[in-house]
This record gives sequence, structure tokens and C-alpha cells, in this order.
Amino acid sequence: MSRLGIIGGTGLSKMVNLSEVHKRVIKTPYGEPSSALTFGKLNGEEIVFMARHGYGHTIPPHKINYRANIWALKEAAVTDIIAVAAVGGINRSMAPGSVVLPDQLIDYTWGRQATYFEEDLEKVTHIDFTYPYTQALRQHIVQAIRQTGGPIFDKATYACTQGPRLETAAEIIKLERDGCDLVGMTGMPEAALARELKLNYACCAIVVNWAAGLDGEEICMQQIEAFAEQGMTTFQRVLDQLMKSYV
Ligand code: HPA
Repeated sequence: MSRLGIIGGTGLSKMVNLSEVHKRVIKTPYGEPSSALTFGKLNGEEIVFMARHGYGHTIPPHKINYRANIWALKEAAVTDIIAVAAVGGINRSMAPGSVVLPDQLIDYTWGRQATYFEEDLEKVTHIDFTYPYTQALRQHIVQAIRQTGGPIFDKATYACTQGPRLETAAEIIKLERDGCDLVGMTGMPEAALARELKLNYACCAIVVNWAAGLDGEEICMQQIEAFAEQGMTTFQRVLDQLMKSYV
């Protein structure tokens, strides 16, 4: 039996189309998750929702308790996580408004608690992370997006920066040289922690701005908010479609 969990990012701190909704606070050995979990039904299937930045959008990317969040979803019997993320577009094809399912990532974060495997170990434990996103889950999402008639990029490398500030133009040139197509601040250690707990995990990225320096302008926060809001409406339509075929 699979159960879907959604981690909502900027612009998505609430799912509007769930029925039979209830919330549950889950305690974890790693402290408090970002939010209580919302349980609700979509097309007859139960899904679990977490607001990554808290329901009031108050927790910045470097302060998120990623370990508690992923642990809480596992505790709620979630098997598959779709991580929704607002990102900047580096690849010139990935303009604001694009929906992208990355297949690779590069981690530029530092100082985050990034593993469950550091204390009380019987032996040192490494996970395979060659392909950081679960291929089968990515394919389900890609298919749902195609069925809604939406354009989609299904191959991209996501750069995870530390934040909370946005990048400099020079940093984006470096990330582009590194082969990155997108830049966000929350993809790691989230993806690795999901792998450590053997959860399926895929990222559905919504491009909300051109990465720093690409259009010769400063980044406008109102524009980010507007694209995030529009992107999250698109995501909810995709999810609705996904739940028709999700087992
Ligand atoms: N950089 C990093 N994170 C982001 C961006 C960006 O340009 N846009 C949305 N999240």
C-alpha cells in the first residue's frame, strides 16, 4: 500500500481541495516538524500534507528541521513524498511559470543537520544517492502533468543553496558552469533524509523567477509571489490528476 505525502513550499502552505480534513501533531526524536500534518482525501485517496515553512510561512530554509519533517511523514505511514518547491530558472528554456521535475541535484548547503546516521550507530552507514529522486514517482508525476496538458521539463539539475538570501549574479554563472538548471534552497538535505528512511521522493519545481543576473534586472519579490501562487494552482490540478491513477 502506498500513501502520498506532499511537502508544500513557498506559495503552497494549504491544500484547498481536500475533504474530510483533520490535523495531527507528530512528535519526533529530532524535535518539532515545521507544521502539524494535515490528513485529507483527494479523489477518495488519503494524502498527507506538510507546510515546509510552517502554516504561517515563518521558517526560513536554513532553519527548517528537515529531519523532524521527514521523520513525521514516515511516522504517518507515508511511502511517497512529492516535494513542491519554488525555484529560480538558470537554464534559458526554464522561464518563470515552467514546471520542472529535476532528475539530479548538487548540494551547496552547509551546517544543516543532514543525516539520521550520526549517533548510536552499530556501524557507519552510507546510502546510495546516485539518482537522488525516485524514478517511478517522477514518471507518475510527469504523466499526470502531460494528462493535464501542461508543458513539462523532465530532466534538470537542481542546485540547493543555503539562503535565505538569493544568489549573486556571479554565483549563478558558477552554478550554470557546474551544470545546474534550477536553483532553490530547500531540496537538501530533504531528499537525502527521505532516502535514508527508504521513502520514495520526487521534486516538483515551479520556476518563479529568472536566477540572479539572467535578465539584467534585480529580482522582484512580488513577481516571485505571483508566479508561486499561479504555479501552486497548477500543481493542485496536477495532483488531482495524479490521484486518479495513484495506487
Ligand atoms: N534562488 C534560490 N532559491 C529560490 C530562487 C532563487 O532564485 N527563487 C525561488 N527560490
